[in-house]
Amino acid sequence: MSDSCKVAILGATGAVGTELLELLQTRNFPVTELKLLASERSAGSTLKFKGQNLQVEAVTDDSFQEVDLVLASAGASTSKVWAKKAVEAGAIVIDNSSAFRMDPEVPLVVPEVNPKAAALHKGIIANPNCTTILMSVAVWPLHQIQPVQRLVVATYQSASGAGARAMAEMKTQAKEILDGEAPTTDIFPYPLAFNLFPHNSQLNEQGYCQEEMKMVNETRKIFGYNELRITATCIRVPVLRAHSEAINLEFAQPFSVVKAREILSQAPGVKLVENWQENYFPMPMEASGKDDVLVGRIRQDISHPGGLELWLSGDQIRKGAALNAVQIAELLVAKNWLRTPVGTF
Ligand code: A2P
Repeated sequence: MSDSCKVAILGATGAVGTELLELLQTRNFPVTELKLLASERSAGSTLKFKGQNLQVEAVTDDSFQEVDLVLASAGASTSKVWAKKAVEAGAIVIDNSSAFRMDPEVPLVVPEVNPKAAALHKGIIANPNCTTILMSVAVWPLHQIQPVQRLVVATYQSASGAGARAMAEMKTQAKEILDGEAPTTDIFPYPLAFNLFPHNSQLNEQGYCQEEMKMVNETRKIFGYNELRITATCIRVPVLRAHSEAINLEFAQPFSVVKAREILSQAPGVKLVENWQENYFPMPMEASGKDDVLVGRIRQDISHPGGLELWLSGDQIRKGAALNAVQIAELLVAKNWLRTPVGTF
């Protein structure tokens, strides 16, 4: 990478923020200066970057002066307040929240699927929802061979999707339950340890929660395929940090399982994990900390000649969030799209 830039992480102390920090280091992203931004709560605390202790600052109107790139992961309401201010100050924002994802002016990018969309940014690029990213990476290569006509997905989503405090809450609940105490709930509406529940985002009139509609709408936008028939059921499960998904795809013609395996074994960002003798397939514990989305258990759907079943596990914090954002940043630097926005937001 030839270029170098001044980077700010908004939400630096969170689950995704700390992963962003690590990825900028390990992937050798060309950072010349790094600002760590969060709320007043963690102002003054320190985080390590390349052996140095950097102080976390509370985000203010002046935070984005001289910043080239903002990696934001502090929730939608925080992004709504700060993203446009950062763009006005001259920065490009890669936003991990849902604030701008469906804005027609904002590209929604998974580098393995629609990298060219990033070139059309006007200052803000949205990082998709975590379950949507993981699914897109696995489904897109098959969709290139034969268009998916209908997609049915059920998710098994880890605590990490609700942030660092939610992960801590689940650990505490597990201990409380093992000690015979009533589990305390603060972040989640119900105990998650030794339990599961449908994703607790807001329900619409049709009974779909926001998370499910994110999968529907964002997949269509990323694939550039508004006609895709897609339905989702999102479930929070007591897993610490990787999401899993059971995906049923329907094609007009049968899709050979052998062909699907061959394609997915070469697909960027995918690792085929299948040992049928051992009943060994992707598991969230093995996906944790990995860059690749683990895909396996590819089967012909016995209920439909054009149906194909897949199972995947992928690290929600990594490819589902921080890694995808850093890959977008790398793309901007490599293509020189960082400094030449087509227009201002
Ligand atoms: P803080 O540590 O100061 O609360 P997670 O998704 O893991 O819960 O992390 C959320 C991140 O977003 C944290 O870094 C958190 O900082 C930050 N954050 C939350 N609310 C705000 C806000 N109003 N302004 C700036 N940063 C915020």
